[in-house]
Amino acid sequence: MEPRRFANPYRFGSPVAGDHFADRKQELTRLAAVMGSGQNLILIAPRRYGKSSLLLAAMERTRRAGGRTGRVNLIKCSTPEEVAGAILLGAVRGPWGWLRGRTAQLAEHLGRVRIGVEIQTDARTGSVSGVSFAPSLRPVDWRGVILDVLVALGRLASDSHPVSLVLDEFQRAYEIDPGIADVMKAAVDDAPRLSLIFSGSRRHLMEQMVQDPNHGPLYNVGAKLYLGRIPAADFSRFLRSRAEAGGKRLSPQVAERIYQLALGVPNDVQLLAFWAFEQPGEEITEAALAAALRSAIADQRQEYQAVWDGLASSQQRLLKLLAERPLVSLRGVEALQRIALSPTAVAKAGTVLERSDLIRRGEAAWELTSGLMAEWLRGDYD
Ligand SMILES: Nc1ncnc2c1ncn2[C@@H]1O[C@H](COP(=O)(O)OP(=O)(O)OP(=O)(O)O)[C@@H](O)[C@H]1O
Ligand SMILES: [Mg+2]
Repeated sequence: MEPRRFANPYRFGSPVAGDHFADRKQELTRLAAVMGSGQNLILIAPRRYGKSSLLLAAMERTRRAGGRTGRVNLIKCSTPEEVAGAILLGAVRGPWGWLRGRTAQLAEHLGRVRIGVEIQTDARTGSVSGVSFAPSLRPVDWRGVILDVLVALGRLASDSHPVSLVLDEFQRAYEIDPGIADVMKAAVDDAPRLSLIFSGSRRHLMEQMVQDPNHGPLYNVGAKLYLGRIPAADFSRFLRSRAEAGGKRLSPQVAERIYQLALGVPNDVQLLAFWAFEQPGEEITEAALAAALRSAIADQRQEYQAVWDGLASSQQRLLKLLAERPLVSLRGVEALQRIALSPTAVAKAGTVLERSDLIRRGEAAWELTSGLMAEWLRGDYD
């Protein structure tokens, strides 16, 4: 076989940057403006829409303008202590990172935290390799610790060096302890120059914090940004220019088709394009796309099967119906007749599916969130 000359130009599965990052100009401008001015922002988008990529791009822009910023991903935390630890580490690696090699100065900043913070340094380079909390015999107020870290961080901000911290997957902290969201509100008040960016994918949890004027701890703390899909025309153009960079042709029709099959979910668009690019030939054709679709679904079949097995029969019926065709209303006559459920049962099943991020209300109708899963449900892939 002849060696291929060009590397695959598509990327999926983890945040993208540079040539792999498309569009989002407006959102990027808004985010960078917020991060550069001590304001706060709540970023909400379904999974795999490109939150982390956008946040990283905004951080990059902020740094170039003199800002000091960092990012914490809270998804793996399971206790308030772990949340505090993750935030501390993110702050030390991010906004405090410029103190590299100056551990005494860093220790001074961290001296404001109510419990001891231990700084581990790399013996060879003298830079901070990790941080941890000193063991304590008494119970620790972890919410208070989080507040101390954020307030100390806020003191770092100046006009020429604004300070910001991105809390990615923030809904996890809220799930662990809703009180952590109250701490964030306190931090917003006590550290007015610190810019906090809360990002999350579980829409109903994020909205609980943000929308409710009476009980929402993050009500009115900052701007809200709902990240939508990248428009079809822009994404198609991106796919075609990437194909060209990879040395293959891609027609507007096939590019558009990739976008449709993936329901415009950025990760899935790039995943399909990736596997289509892997097919032999100098052009990404309809046939290459069909083969790519089969292999992408084969890859994820077990995951789909596991999700399917975990659903109640009413939920399965509704999901399958929506895979066949989007519905304007879940309570419509068609839905009820086709799956033989009462209006209440359909509504209940719909809520579960939506909260599990399996379905969403698209621009005009209810549909599956994953085009690939929809295709698996419609087709014969086993
Ligand atoms: N602006 C973009 N241009 C092109 N592709 C993108 C863009 N944003 C995201 N993607 C695609 O989506 C994938 C996932 O991006 P990213 O990790 O930023 O999303 P996320 O919303 O943070 O996902 P998760 O919910 O899994 O954390 C990327 O690997 C890439 O394929
Ligand atoms: Mg992410």
